[in-house]
Amino acid sequence: MNAVPLVDDPKAFAAYLAAQERKGLLRFLTCGSVDDGKSTLIGRLLMDTKLVFEDHLTSLARDSRKFGTTGEDVDPALLLDGLEAEREQGITIDVAYRFFTTEKRKFIVADTPGHEQYTRNMATGASTSDLAVLLVDARTGLVAQTRRHAFLVSLLGIRHVVLAVNKIDLVDFSRDVFERIRDDFATFAQDLGFESLVAVPLSARWGDNVTTRSPRMPWYDGPSLLDHLETVEVAERALRGPFRMAVQWVNRPDLDFRGFAGTIASGVVRPGDRVVVAKSGKIGTVARIVTADGDLDEGRAGEAVTLTLAEEIDISRGDLLAAVEARPTVADQFAAHLVWMAEEPMLPGRSYLLKCGTRTVPATITDIRHKIDVGSFEHLAAKDLKLNEIAVVNVGLAEAIAFDPYAENRETGAFVLIDRFSNATVGAGMIDFGLRRATNVHWQAIDVTPAARAGQKSQTPAVLWFTGLSGSGKSTIANIVEKKLFALGRHSFLLDGDNVRHGLNRDLGFTDADRVENIRRVGEVAKLMVDAGLIVLVSFISPFRAERQMVRELIGGEAFVEIFVDTPLATCEARDTKGLYAKARAGTLKHFTGIDSPYEAPVDPEIRIDTATETSEEAADRVIRQILGDAVDWVI
Ligand code: ADX
Repeated sequence: MNAVPLVDDPKAFAAYLAAQERKGLLRFLTCGSVDDGKSTLIGRLLMDTKLVFEDHLTSLARDSRKFGTTGEDVDPALLLDGLEAEREQGITIDVAYRFFTTEKRKFIVADTPGHEQYTRNMATGASTSDLAVLLVDARTGLVAQTRRHAFLVSLLGIRHVVLAVNKIDLVDFSRDVFERIRDDFATFAQDLGFESLVAVPLSARWGDNVTTRSPRMPWYDGPSLLDHLETVEVAERALRGPFRMAVQWVNRPDLDFRGFAGTIASGVVRPGDRVVVAKSGKIGTVARIVTADGDLDEGRAGEAVTLTLAEEIDISRGDLLAAVEARPTVADQFAAHLVWMAEEPMLPGRSYLLKCGTRTVPATITDIRHKIDVGSFEHLAAKDLKLNEIAVVNVGLAEAIAFDPYAENRETGAFVLIDRFSNATVGAGMIDFGLRRATNVHWQAIDVTPAARAGQKSQTPAVLWFTGLSGSGKSTIANIVEKKLFALGRHSFLLDGDNVRHGLNRDLGFTDADRVENIRRVGEVAKLMVDAGLIVLVSFISPFRAERQMVRELIGGEAFVEIFVDTPLATCEARDTKGLYAKARAGTLKHFTGIDSPYEAPVDPEIRIDTATETSEEAADRVIRQILGDAVDWVI
């Protein structure tokens, strides 16, 4: 058994993999603190099942995918799932996947580093696992880390847990020690919703109770770790769920065939089943389930298929097809658990890209309901989220998407957040539920349209967004521009940071989180004013690129004009009209832009003003000319 043909004999290897394919697969995760003996345990499992070829397999899978020699089905490619995706997103996640097999089952084990800060690694490994092996050292028993891991395991939807009480030889194979740790854990884990929880006393170092029962613990009558892993029933949850499939592409080779290709995320589908397009609510009947090897009577979770429908209904890439009798939620707001995975903190109000299945939409965290201390389960208030922190948040999307609660469906209930500038994955989330306010608040139809309002004022509404350091001259120039617009009979309004901060934004200070919210609010106000037909001048430091970009997208198209008042810090500081730079330098004013808070200069503004070479009057004329065109030259 377990004789693996050489990897460089592709035919024999493909046959071997095909045989492996027919066995059940258990994906599990190991977690523990640094010295609990995780590597020893995994090494022992691999050694005692006499199968160490994970490196070969990894490269084989990669090659076969790229060159397609053995087809798309090479199972070990699973090893790379997620990991590759994460790498493409520019994040280095330190999870090692190993593959081994016995007569009864195949195993993929995700090994994650044990340090406290590696929550994100664990989240990555756990998101595809069915079972978790939690290691504890028999000498120390449960530690904070064990509780943290158990919580995460539960949060990530793993329902089967093995508590491996390791180094039992170092406590003289003591039954008392083992039973105390087992009972402590059972009490702690009561509310974590595990379906199976088995404790095994073992010594990874010497192999006791790892692959075979140890004669050195006659008092223990449970299974060895491997026995349990080989036999534990982890019903394939994806199969149990209702049918879901995201359309990856619409296959239309000729007028007679229109197929919807994708991978079935959950459930099964058969010809004759009625399916609904989640977002539009349109219903159709499955006619055929087409694959490269012919039609199927039944398509199951995990399979890549092409569906054809009996009816002609409108379906496009990204649509989620679902069982009619069990429809997903469609909403543009939901509550979720979020694990933050970036060095840079998460700031509510900032715009990220949210990827859920095949859909990617702009999203913001609208509220941090609470942060969770994973040691004590305490709920804590928070204004931002730092690396590896976990919180319950509300998420708002630029448009509605279809999803399920993660607890019901790990495929359609998970999402990642992506930074819009670096493209890195910065967060991983699990949807709890759609927010009812999202489904109960509708757009009210208004008969007097933005275009009608603009027409009445005979002008093209726009937002002139002045950004630059404090003291750069933004407000001075904006003020002159507005006076000129007024003289030209234009309808305008000037929103100035200092003024708005006395009213609408009086609750906000100068932390990064508050500045993000400051700009979000003034962006929304500017949007309303543009819809009212006005030329809106906004003069805010607005130090972050991400928020300026967000407002640009909110306003849309040519209506947003970014004006960078590019005065060097030294000049602003020398002017120091409000005496704030002096205070900042003295340390009595914290988070001052340019001193101890960053300013991210625009990369490609529509207008750049250099106050060293241009007077404010000249700059204002240039702005007017740019937005109203040369026709107004004679008036100015
Ligand atoms: S922003 O960064 O959030 O866009 P905003 O334009 O609203 O700032 O407000 C900036 C004004 O607040 C400055 O012109 C200055 O008068 C005042 N101010 C007070 N404290 C600070 C600070 N820590 N950093 C920058 N500006 C400050």
